Amino acid sequence: MVVLDYDKALQNDENFQSMLASTVQYSGHLRNVIESGVYIAAESSIVLPTDEALLEKVQALAEHYKSPALRYHVVIGIGGSNLGTKAIYDALYGYADVLESARMPKILFAETTSPDWLQMFGRLAQTLESPEQIIVSVISKSGGTSETLANFEIIVQTLAAHFGETAAILPRVVAITDEDSALWEQAGALGLQRLPLQLPVGGRYSVLSAVGLFPLATIGCDIVALRRGAAEMRTLCVSDDTSENLAAQSATVLAHYHSKAAVINDNFFFNPQLESLGKWYRQLMGESVGKQDSLSGETVHAGITPTVSLGSTDLHSVGQLYLGGPKDKITTFVYTQKHGDVAVPAASDRVLPELVPIISGKKASDIMQAIFDGTRLAYANAALPSMTVMLDTIDEYNLGAYLQFKMNEMMYLGQLMNVNSFDQPNVELYKIETKRILTGTNS
Ligand code: PA5
Repeated sequence: MVVLDYDKALQNDENFQSMLASTVQYSGHLRNVIESGVYIAAESSIVLPTDEALLEKVQALAEHYKSPALRYHVVIGIGGSNLGTKAIYDALYGYADVLESARMPKILFAETTSPDWLQMFGRLAQTLESPEQIIVSVISKSGGTSETLANFEIIVQTLAAHFGETAAILPRVVAITDEDSALWEQAGALGLQRLPLQLPVGGRYSVLSAVGLFPLATIGCDIVALRRGAAEMRTLCVSDDTSENLAAQSATVLAHYHSKAAVINDNFFFNPQLESLGKWYRQLMGESVGKQDSLSGETVHAGITPTVSLGSTDLHSVGQLYLGGPKDKITTFVYTQKHGDVAVPAASDRVLPELVPIISGKKASDIMQAIFDGTRLAYANAALPSMTVMLDTIDEYNLGAYLQFKMNEMMYLGQLMNVNSFDQPNVELYKIETKRILTGTNS
């Protein structure tokens, strides 16, 4: 499971304790949303881990596409429509894709509209022998995101040209979108496979909906364990016993240090395969608490800037800044207890035994643990605030637990910072301007 550790001195801090106690009322609201079992409230994403009808629908469609021939699942989507899927895929498989090039199927992510990536995809398409080797999911909550639809059209046309006709590829296309979107309607008219999103669930809270579950299920990820981890964490994270509610605790740590000028939350992952998990969290925090207006309508320009660092790699790039520069950060260290293991040879078997002799015979995991502990000690000695999240191991169950923990954390943090954790009015601004430029109506 997932364990949270933070500065025990906060237990005697009145400001911290009163903020933590204030989360209890909202926990009650979250429990009501879960008990309702319906998708009405803004917080409805917490219904997803135990929505059995959703699981059945996703599993049935994944089964429909199951084949030893499958090589690639192309996920076309951006922001909340792909970051969660990529986080889990990279943690379990994607980080090793270069080293395990023969392992299939793989997920390919078409995010921004990159002409270079699309050309490379065109070359990859030439290697396909039959449409059964590929699935294309077009994922967009609104159904109207320019990048996603441009990628979709180009990718489908590329595949249609390769296989000789559009009709050959359309049965391999799945649309995942809101049931009231134009994409839903037009995909239906074309006879495409479709999976609906649950309407009030926003993109950045949708990883446990069909958005994440379907692509992951088709490549062999254990989505049942993913949901189980999320469901078990959810129980803790809606508890009004704040001593077991990890989400309320970590949200309060963030809000507490934010009130003391920590305007950056650095998420420092010591397992490199978790980098995309950090990028998923970056959207979650950035869009949820980065707000112009407060819940009461005042202009506040609130926010904590989320950053992602990798240990120990980034200690050799920005470690100097973090340890010696401005004290404007609260750091969340993330690491796992269990690893596969390899060891540095004993001194007698080493090629360069006189260089850094203390590593001789040491396991790689012991070296990393020493770096992890050493980094946290250096932070503590420099009086830099931090908390630590330990994952038991990196698997579907623990990733599901982490995702749910962080989504609940963001709900509490919005309450503590007095902002709406569920909207993103300013993201729309660039979309409107982009469409204006493309239609030639910009001034
Ligand atoms: O959180 C959000 O709503 C956004 O980041 C969206 O996920 C992103 O803009 C993609 O939108 P859509 O899923 O509608 O294509």
